Parts: sequence; C-alpha cells; structure tokens
Amino acid sequence: MTSKNLSHLERARRTIPWGTQTFAKRHERDGMDQRPAFIKRAKGCRMWDLDDREFIDYRVALGPIILGYQYEEVDAAVRKQMELGTLFSMSSPIEAVAAEKILSTIGWAEKIRFMKTGADASTCCVRLARSRTKRDHILSVGYHGYHDWFAFPWPNPGVPESLKQYVHDVDYGDIEEIDRVFSEFGNELAAAITVPIEWHMNPDKAFIQHLRNKCTEYGTALIFDEILTGFRLGKAGAVEYLGIQPDMAAFAKGMANGYPLSAFAGSSEWMDTLNQTVITTTYAGETLSLAAACAVMDVFDKEPVHEYIAKTGKTLRQGFEEIFKETGFPATMTGVDQGAVINYNQAGDEAQKLNIALFNKLYSKGIFANEQWFISYSHQPDDIQQTLEIIHQSIREIL
Ligand SMILES: Cc1ncc(COP(=O)(O)O)c(C=O)c1O
Repeated sequence: MTSKNLSHLERARRTIPWGTQTFAKRHERDGMDQRPAFIKRAKGCRMWDLDDREFIDYRVALGPIILGYQYEEVDAAVRKQMELGTLFSMSSPIEAVAAEKILSTIGWAEKIRFMKTGADASTCCVRLARSRTKRDHILSVGYHGYHDWFAFPWPNPGVPESLKQYVHDVDYGDIEEIDRVFSEFGNELAAAITVPIEWHMNPDKAFIQHLRNKCTEYGTALIFDEILTGFRLGKAGAVEYLGIQPDMAAFAKGMANGYPLSAFAGSSEWMDTLNQTVITTTYAGETLSLAAACAVMDVFDKEPVHEYIAKTGKTLRQGFEEIFKETGFPATMTGVDQGAVINYNQAGDEAQKLNIALFNKLYSKGIFANEQWFISYSHQPDDIQQTLEIIHQSIREIL
C-alpha cells in the first residue's frame, strides 16, 4: 500500500530541512510508525491525515486549539475582519479592543503588547526585566522557546558561548538550587522566568511561592511563562490556579484558537519600561489573529469553557487510571486534569518500549496524542468514551 503521508514526506524533505517547521512535528525514525506525518484537515476535536485516516486529537496543535478546530464563532470573526483588511500602514483599532478584552480576562495585569510566537513573548519579558533592573542574569525554569538568550539546555551550535554565563537553569521544584542561585547572583538577577507548572509533574505551589518571595526580596522580576498554561488552566491561567501573581507573563497558546498570536503583559511598573527599550515588529498588530482572540475571550465570557475542560480532563484521567488498575498496565497519570501525562512505572528502555507499543496501537485505532493529553471545548463526552474504549482495547492487546 502506498502511503500519501510517506510520499509527501519525501517531497517535503527535499525543500524543507526536517520536512517541517516545528521540532515536535518532525517525523523521526523513533518507532512510531503509525503516527501520521501530515494532517490535511481538522474540525472540532477530529482531524484527518493525507491517507484519509480519522483521529480524535489530544495534542490540539501543541496547545493552541482551546475551543476546537474551525470553531464557528472564532472563524466568523476572522472572516468579518478579513473584509476590512489584515495589516495596515498604521495601527488598527482592534489592537486596543483585543488588549482590553484580554486584560479583563486575565484580571491581574494592567498593560499588554502583542507578538507572534511564544518565544517572542518570553524574550520580550526578559528584555523588559533587563532594561528596568539594568542587570543581565536570568534564572530560568522550564522551556521558553528557541531564542538565543535561552537556547541552552539543547545542543545549539550557533548560540554564542558567552551568553551562557547569564542564564541559570533550575529544575522545577528545586528550592535549594533557587536559594543557591539567588545567594550567588541575587543582585545581578534581572528576572526569574518560570513555567508555573511542569506538565509531567504535580503543581508545586510552595516552589513558585518561594520564587515569588526571593524575587520580591532582590528586586528581580518574576515572569510566568504562561504560554501553555495561560487560558487553559483557567481564564487567568496559572495565576488563578496557583493564586500567585508574577510581575509579567508571556502568553501564546490558547488565546486565539490557533491563529498566530502571542502577548506579554504585566503591571504598568514593568510594562512601562517599554518607553526605554525598543521592542517592535511588523506583524504584531495583524488583525485576523486579534479578531480571533477577541472572539475567544467572548466565548470564555459566555460559556463555561475552563470548567468543562477541567471536568472532561478529569473524566479522561480517571478513565486511564481505572484501565491501568484493571489491566495492571505499569503506569500512572501525573500533572493536572487539563493536560494529564502518562508516567510509566519503569524507566529507560522498558518505558520507551511500552510507549511505542501503546501509541502505535492508539494511532492505528484513530487516537492522536503523546504522553500529555490536552482537551478542547469541542471534545464531547462521547469522544472521551470512545477514546477510553480504544485505550482499554489497545492496552489489552499489548500486554
Ligand atoms: C512553556 C513554553 N514556552 C515557550 C514556548 C515557545 O513557544 P513558540 O513555539 O510559540 O515560540 C513553548 C512552546 O511549546 C512552551 O511550551
């Protein structure tokens, strides 16, 4: 059987290094033979690959699809804006409308600027922190994008070695290391930027509170990287979930239902530093994504999106746990209900083998996910039920 996915992959690799734009979308020789290389269409919580296989999708485009693919209210707002224009020679009035709606949704921040990618938004927060404090060092917890200031935990030839001295990487939850970095570099730390939760771990409020306290003590900006948690854990993202407020935050996924928009926001005190450093880019005021964001915020206002996602995530997670218990499959679910993660009880090769076996079964039976399971507002109870039956059957087949 010839696979259109595979023949198109050969074609894409001839002109596009990796054959894709996104690290997590590469089609590696990693044993996941059943994973589709290309998706040609998606609607609601379902998507179709080039070979016309249908999947219930739990990756939601790596986070952005909060309401569901082709969500009518959002796409209608985009079509309406398209009739006015996409980008102009001066600002569009929709920028301030979107700013007001998003600030009112998240509640705690006073000012906001838009960008295009998550990496842009986290980089802007770091720039403002450095500009206001006149310090260079950054404490960093988690992943914040590919930009040079951050790109250290991976092999990244091309990033000057000299930049490394400024970034101090700390593991989520490691309070002792926070104390060590602050005692050594505290007066040179412009910012501590952290993911408020690490998805494969349980949320650690004490760790984030400790970081908050240290930042306040040293005059260091606390930046939340809410790129995955924002608009997913609640209207006010992790700030609402943890009850702890940063000075600035970076947002991207979940704010425009897949249209390319990111933002950085915070107190006026930190955001007004924009008057002393230049952050500017041509496409940040692009109106279609801003129209999409306005529509998403309106849906958040009218409908119980976040309660539904949390409740549905919990049903899926509990279903997984019951299946693990009943079948003796050696795994547990960790993290939060809005994006629980499969955690294998074994380590190394054994876990890897189970993972490949489980996901190949799931892909072949029409479920698309990776270890982390994201829900959108379009995942209906029937979809979850169907998914749990397929998980059950898949696990029984591989044990
Ligand atoms: C927590 C976090 N920060 C930053 C980024 C980078 O966002 P982008 O890929 O839009 O640049 C990501 C992307 O996955 C992310 O998950």
